[in-house]
Amino acid sequence: MEDSIFKKYIEKRNILIENKNILQFTYIPDQLPHRDHEINDIVEIISPSLNKDKPSNILIIGKTGTGKTAVMNYIGKELKKADPEEKNCSFVYINCEIVDTPSGILYNISNQIITEFNRKIPYTGWSLDKVYSELITYIDEKNKVFIVVLDEIDRSFKKNGDDIFYFLTSMNETLKNSKVSIIGITNNTKFTEMLTTKIKSRLGEEKIIFPPYTPNELQDILKDRAKIAFKPGVLDEGVIPYCAAISAQDSGDARKALDILRIAADIAERNGDQTITEAHVNFARNKIELDAVIEVIKTITIQSKIVLMSIVKNQENENNKMTTGDVYTTYKEICTIIGNQILSQRRVADLISELDMLGIIHARVKSFGSKGRTKEIELNISKDITQIVIDDDIFRPLINYKPSKQTTLM
Ligand SMILES: Nc1ncnc2c1ncn2[C@@H]1O[C@H](COP(=O)(O)OP(=O)(O)OP(=O)(O)O)[C@@H](O)[C@H]1O
Ligand SMILES: [Mg+2]
Repeated sequence: MEDSIFKKYIEKRNILIENKNILQFTYIPDQLPHRDHEINDIVEIISPSLNKDKPSNILIIGKTGTGKTAVMNYIGKELKKADPEEKNCSFVYINCEIVDTPSGILYNISNQIITEFNRKIPYTGWSLDKVYSELITYIDEKNKVFIVVLDEIDRSFKKNGDDIFYFLTSMNETLKNSKVSIIGITNNTKFTEMLTTKIKSRLGEEKIIFPPYTPNELQDILKDRAKIAFKPGVLDEGVIPYCAAISAQDSGDARKALDILRIAADIAERNGDQTITEAHVNFARNKIELDAVIEVIKTITIQSKIVLMSIVKNQENENNKMTTGDVYTTYKEICTIIGNQILSQRRVADLISELDMLGIIHARVKSFGSKGRTKEIELNISKDITQIVIDDDIFRPLINYKPSKQTTLM
């Protein structure tokens, strides 16, 4: 390579990672270890489609990162191998997080199915009814089975209710030649409770649960990827078991395990280190946690930020056993300084509970004799995050502020 300011960067980037794409979430592996049961169950249910018989609708439920999307994409590819010209069945995949209105979903299904250009449905100008009836006419002409996968189905439901599922599951009542089967995927384990009884029984004719991965299963998944992603010998022995243990502990989430491994490798490479070690994994883990909390802090309201800042200020003041009352006193002072409306102590207590639920702080309930129950609050945020709160523009007037002396109980 010719001399270029990028040269050093490129050389440094290629020490450890052979193929970066393999660790990205968009990569679809050829093998999906530890999902044989789930794959077999689904294949068994949908295989009649290859003889033009209608398979049952399926609802796939499992927590995030348990391989639901990967498995359905894999099955879609295999189905296509079994019927390359799509004579008997077609597979249509929609992600309802991206396409989340009923008309968007119908439009998207239509334009994946309708191959003739002059029959494509225009993006605007048609009513939902017209799109629906044109789609039914088209589907019926094809005389085959359509398997429609609605991934992240709860997203559409939250926005629009279950009308669209009613539309889609009742198509078969109008169709004479073709059939439509729906496969819904959700990571919301309470999803079925939100549905009306009618839709619940239609969508969930078959239910398949994807359990979280165990640490050993995650290790197998990571090992498969690592083999093709990294140059030989660059991974310390303990790295994969450690990544797997961390991810299994929280949620059995393969996406998270792969993320930690990818970020650890990135950190090692950027450092110019020769191997990837458990220390890099720890850095990666902290980075992921920090990024997640930063995202949350971005979304909270100004009032919550002030409450958070009040806790930070008490902490700075070495009031390590602060109570809701202490926080409220500081909160009122800060509101006065920055010119914000003051909420009641009760509302502030609610905001403290909210911050607790978001995992930004840790609030323990303690009883203080005659004063009844009050909360003792512990800060559960790292120095980095404390700094992010302090650096928020709205708190610029607080540079020289110290909370006035607290009347700490106990
Ligand atoms: N058994 C497996 N073998 C190899 N890779 C896997 C396996 N299961 C999941 N993965 C990988 O883990 C990541 C997350 O999987 P996937 O996207 O399928 O999760 P999901 O269950 O759809 O999660 P969500 O509910 O958040 O959409 C993907 O990169 C996927 O390729
Ligand atoms: Mg998914």
